[in-house]
Amino acid sequence: MKNVLIIGASKGIGLRIAELLAGSYNLFTVSRTESPELSRLNTTHFTADITNGVPAELQNLPDELHGLVYCPGTINLKPVNRLTEDDFLNDYKVNVLGAVKVIQFCLPRLKKTNGSSVVMFSTVAAKAGMAFHASVAASKAAVEGLGRSLAAELAPAQIRVNVVAPSLTDTPLAKNLLNTPERVEASAKRHPLNRVGQADDIASMAAFLVSDKATWVTGQVFGVDGGLSTLR
Ligand SMILES: NC(=O)c1ccc[n+]([C@@H]2O[C@H](COP(=O)([O-])OP(=O)(O)OC[C@H]3O[C@@H](n4cnc5c(N)ncnc54)[C@H](OP(=O)(O)O)[C@@H]3O)[C@@H](O)[C@H]2O)c1
Repeated sequence: MKNVLIIGASKGIGLRIAELLAGSYNLFTVSRTESPELSRLNTTHFTADITNGVPAELQNLPDELHGLVYCPGTINLKPVNRLTEDDFLNDYKVNVLGAVKVIQFCLPRLKKTNGSSVVMFSTVAAKAGMAFHASVAASKAAVEGLGRSLAAELAPAQIRVNVVAPSLTDTPLAKNLLNTPERVEASAKRHPLNRVGQADDIASMAAFLVSDKATWVTGQVFGVDGGLSTLR
């Protein structure tokens, strides 16, 4: 069975990706907690905060890695004059540097595999300007640049790198934005497809990108956003 490492699989989109891949892939997971839902999937789990660096236990990963999915994210929405340097640095650490460190660590294993896939997450707010998103949009735009650059650098090694850019999706990360029926309805109305995202909407795209059905897809940023980034 092929091996896939998911960073951030205890809940939200990462958990749904793990659920979609379980049974077809040998799963290794990292997050700061292990939820009951994740435990039920019988993944090989490592409990760690990725902003503290790659946990030493990941040395025990198999020699070949077919997929790497990086899911941690942040939602720190404030007017720009209230965003501190630490806010920007924290968003950059979680979204960009965490991914960079894991990719660097996994590179020998990804290279050893004949065709492997890296998936990272941006946000619709990196493409469509949204008030109060300055810090998260800046770090997610960096994720998009990172993804395209690595896709070019790693294509000769048959490593594919793609980014998924969701709009508002019903996960623990977004719970404060979707905590009343009125908020859910108002958010749905902003989307051409008239609803907010569900974890499955986003996870399905990531599962496709990991799979052998996507072996000619690299260097892309996929908006999975109910049409918000491109339609009027
Ligand atoms: N939900 C949205 O509306 C939305 C919109 C646009 C983009 N996105 C992006 O989509 C991705 C997935 O988001 P989500 O909504 O599924 O988020 P989520 O509900 O917060 O889940 C994030 C996952 O990452 C883990 N995690 C967070 N920080 C970590 C850290 N420092 N070290 C290790 N694990 C960590 C969390 O587990 P623990 O807490 O157990 O560590 C959890 O399993 C993120 O990159 C997010 O920015 C989401």
